[in-house]
Order: sequence, then C-alpha cells, then structure tokens
Amino acid sequence: MRFTDTLPTPTAEALAHSEQLAGRIRAAMTANGGSIPFHEFMRMALYEPGLGYYVAGLRKIGKEGDFITAPEISPLFSQCLANQCAQLLAELGGGHILELGAGSGVMAADMLLRLEELDCLPQRYQILDLSPELRDRQRQTLQARVPHLLERVTWLDTLPAEPMRGVIVGNEVLDAMPVELFTLVAGERVIRHVEILEDGFGLVAVDGAYTSEYNPALPGWMRSMADTLEAGALLLIDYGYEQKDYYHPERTQGTLICHYQHRVHDNPLLYPGLQDITASVDFTAVAEAGVDAGLELAGYTTQAAFLASSGLEELFMQALQTTPAAQYKLAQQVRTLSLPSEMGDRFKVIALCKGFTSELVGFRLANQRHRL
Ligand SMILES: C[S@@+](CC[C@H](N)C(=O)[O-])C[C@H]1O[C@@H](n2cnc3c(N)ncnc32)[C@H](O)[C@@H]1O
Repeated sequence: MRFTDTLPTPTAEALAHSEQLAGRIRAAMTANGGSIPFHEFMRMALYEPGLGYYVAGLRKIGKEGDFITAPEISPLFSQCLANQCAQLLAELGGGHILELGAGSGVMAADMLLRLEELDCLPQRYQILDLSPELRDRQRQTLQARVPHLLERVTWLDTLPAEPMRGVIVGNEVLDAMPVELFTLVAGERVIRHVEILEDGFGLVAVDGAYTSEYNPALPGWMRSMADTLEAGALLLIDYGYEQKDYYHPERTQGTLICHYQHRVHDNPLLYPGLQDITASVDFTAVAEAGVDAGLELAGYTTQAAFLASSGLEELFMQALQTTPAAQYKLAQQVRTLSLPSEMGDRFKVIALCKGFTSELVGFRLANQRHRL
C-alpha cells in the first residue's frame, strides 16, 4: 500500500459512474441549502443505493480491488477467530454466528471449516451486509469452499427479529461506517459541511487548526447489537486507537483516509463512489456505547495478542506444508497479521458480552480493557 498524491486515472466508464453519483450528491446539497454535513457525503459516497462504493458492483477487496483485509491475507486469522467462537458456542450450549459485512465470504468459509474440525458448528451462520451485491460473491466462495455446509448459511436483509444466542462478528465493519468531521473553534466542535465547487466538491471553510471525526451512529448501532444478542458476544476487529490517542493533540488532521487501487491518500471528496473512505475506530467510544447499551466489556487487545491467545502458533504448526515455498508463504502471512509494523498493533479486537461471564480465550495473554 502506498501513500500518494498521484492516483491512477479512472476509466471513462468509472468516471461516468462517479459523475452520476456526484449528480445525486449535488441534488442533495441543493435541496439542503447548498451543502450537506460530511457524514451525509460519506454515507452517499459509500452506500447510496445502486451507486455508492460498497453497493455498486466494483471489486473492492483483494488484489484486483482497492485494499486487502486480514481474512484475505491468511486463513489463520479466521481460524483463530473460530477458536474464540468455539469457546463461546460450547459454553453457551450451542448457538448461531452472525457475521456483519462479510466481504468476499472467505472468512465465513475458513471459520466454518475450523468450527467443523472442532465439532462446534453453529446452528446457523448468518450474514448481514449493507452491500447486497456482495451476496453473489459470498455464495460463490462458500459454494466452492464449503458446499457441504452451505445449507447452514443464511443471508439476512435486516438484523434477526428474535434475539440470538451466539456470536456477532465483524472484521473492518466499524471503519466503513460514515463519520462526522469536525473542527475545533474556540474549543467547540464545529461540524464540517461539503459544498459544490466548480470542479468537484470542497469543505465549507472553518477557521480552526484541529480537525477530527466521530461516528454519530455508534450509540444507536450498539443498542441494536445489544438487542440482537440474547446471550454471547459481539466481537469486532478493526484499526483504531483508545480515545486519548485518537484525539491526541498532535493528530491535527484526524484519521480519515481513502483507498484507490492500493494507493492511500487523504482526499475523501475525490471520485465519489470509486474509492473507499475510512476512518480509524475510537475504541473507547465503542466500549462506552456497548456498556451504555447493556453489554459488558469483556476484552480489548491488539490483533497480535488476540491471535497469539487464540492458538495462532498451534494452527501455524498444523498448517506447515512440506515445501519450503509454502512454509515461507505461511510465515509471511503470520508476520503480516502479527508484526507491530504491519497489522499486529494497529488492529485491535474488542469483545462485548451479554450473559456470558467466563474469561474469553482470545484475551487471556493480554487483556487491555483498562486502557479504554
Ligand atoms: C472494509 S469491508 C470489510 C469486509 C470483510 N469483513 C473483510 O474483512 O474482508 C466493510 C464491509 O462492512 C459492510 N458494512 C458497513 N456497515 C455495516 C453495517 N452497519 N452492517 C453490516 N455491514 C456493514 C460494508 O458494506 C462492507 O461490505
């Protein structure tokens, strides 16, 4: 991944698509008196029906897409998560798994295979994504990888009506939620708006030197998660910080970044619908929203520590192939997932539980919930 100020030029077809979405955004701005809050811009850019980045048919995740995620890097990631889910399902006496934002379906396939190996399959593996277009891709992955388990998988349009026992899991879902951008003016948060410029979009000017963001939907979303869970855990993995680091005085430009064809840059107003826009996660806010919604903060740690606690080394030893090339590849995957300079420290895992009081295996080595 490269940080850059030069991006590949989109194709004419992609530009036409983006212009269609830009037209809809301009209409929303005009209807709102000339501008919309940044979070509304981000919502439209990512999720506007039929046109937004996550809901139009572009290939986003993986080598031909814009970015790559942990389950795509190595099956070991999903196998470790499955180990954690197995503990929960076993102690709950069975239950379901609900995966939010399931991407290509690769995490579901690897988790199901590991859970089968552990003789701890969930009654149902449910998938809920804001991107209905990804369903076909997920079904193809599961059909190819786990055809014998496909009947256990169901796709949902909304959260289950009846509270469930089991695990709700989401990798890199929180960072894909629209955030509100603000600038501090005389110590007060002034919400930033986006307006129409001659050659695109721009932020309405505000005089202040410290800009950051927050997720305005978090409290409501967390309440719906708590209502969905009768007993079990909500497990979320994402990149982010504790609040004191998130709003560190030196982080004067916030955490928003954009991905376009494996390039990283910091202009979210470019090419609406063609690029990913994402913000790091404020894990203190996540924990507080969870506790306010009636969940218990059971665990918080780095991805590296979570994987180590969840049996990464054992899984790695089991998976070692005989050829040196395969061994090298697997070792590289472990490094990418675990090294502090790669994903190991930047990504965190948080667990919020309901009606489940045992210590979670994934946090045994290093539970850092006191830091939130
Ligand atoms: C960055 S992708 C991650 C995909 C996958 N989990 C992975 O690790 O490869 C984020 C996904 O979360 C989905 N998403 C965002 N907000 C969501 C929500 N509130 N509920 C369910 N899915 C959501 C998006 O549609 C998108 O598919």
